[in-house]
Amino acid sequence: MTATPRKILIDTDPGIDDAMAIFYALASPELDLIGLTTVFGNAHVEVCTTNAQRLLDIAGRPDIPVAEGAARPLAMPYRGPAAFVHGANGLADVALAAPSRPPHHLAAAQFIVEQVRAAPGEITLVPIGPLTNIALALMLWPELPQHLAGIVLMGGNAFVPGNATPAAEANIVNDPEAADLVFGADCPIVMCGLDVTEATIMSSAQIESTAAIDNPRARLAAQILPFYRDFHVVAGGLDGIHVHDSTCISYLLAPERYRSVQHPIRVDTGHGVGRGKTWPATRHALHHEAWAGRREVTILTEVDADAVVALELARLAR
Ligand code: BDR
Ligand code: CA
Repeated sequence: MTATPRKILIDTDPGIDDAMAIFYALASPELDLIGLTTVFGNAHVEVCTTNAQRLLDIAGRPDIPVAEGAARPLAMPYRGPAAFVHGANGLADVALAAPSRPPHHLAAAQFIVEQVRAAPGEITLVPIGPLTNIALALMLWPELPQHLAGIVLMGGNAFVPGNATPAAEANIVNDPEAADLVFGADCPIVMCGLDVTEATIMSSAQIESTAAIDNPRARLAAQILPFYRDFHVVAGGLDGIHVHDSTCISYLLAPERYRSVQHPIRVDTGHGVGRGKTWPATRHALHHEAWAGRREVTILTEVDADAVVALELARLAR
């Protein structure tokens, strides 16, 4: 007997690695992608929305709704697109057709609330961009966490340095106030942070192997991944890419490939050099009052990287 697929809603800023995560989810029968919500981040939100729609068109799933969300963080200006990482259009500057359908009429936060109200207890939120839309949804409906199956997010760095700053990871530093609100939500939260995403490497040879796969998702992957790899070569001397956003999907499909620890998390919302750092309260007996009352987050710390990269590539070939 096959299990009912798990309903997920991906909040995203596509983004090359976002595109890979969306394709990975769509090729996984264990998951039922019920919608995409978009947020500023790797590109302006309008660009991210168009990209999300194009990705669904390419994957043959234009029936999945795309709801546009926040154009800027809760409490600061948008820092601007990461064109050097993802291209000026967010997808390696590859020219793509216009989307076949308009976006959903609801804004992302309202869309999230409506979807969860319609399927209480069933939906897992999978945020792979700044956490602004999720924070706005929590403000719209404070009881939202009690009606979620959970949140599996890409963001943060518990025991390793940041990637956007020495202290902080990009999704979190793009809206630390939103992230601190989300990590305080009273529902199961899994943090797929740099601790495991930077340990998960898709090599140049694996990237090049995607060119031999004959389906529309893989054809786009083969076009966009080399741009992302070139950024990693220049920025970190890595002959491959860190697998960030797809880690959430790998965790949902194969949690046994990961090890984790449990600690409550606060996000540094100060305006010093530590802004955006995710701080686990690691010494339970010494919990500072700032962490008091916060539920423990499952923080991924170790990964069987070969296994999860192989799984993602196998799904790309489906
Ligand atoms: C995160 O930042 C973005 O550039 C990626 O899409 C990913 O979500 C990695 O730090
Ligand atoms: Ca992303």
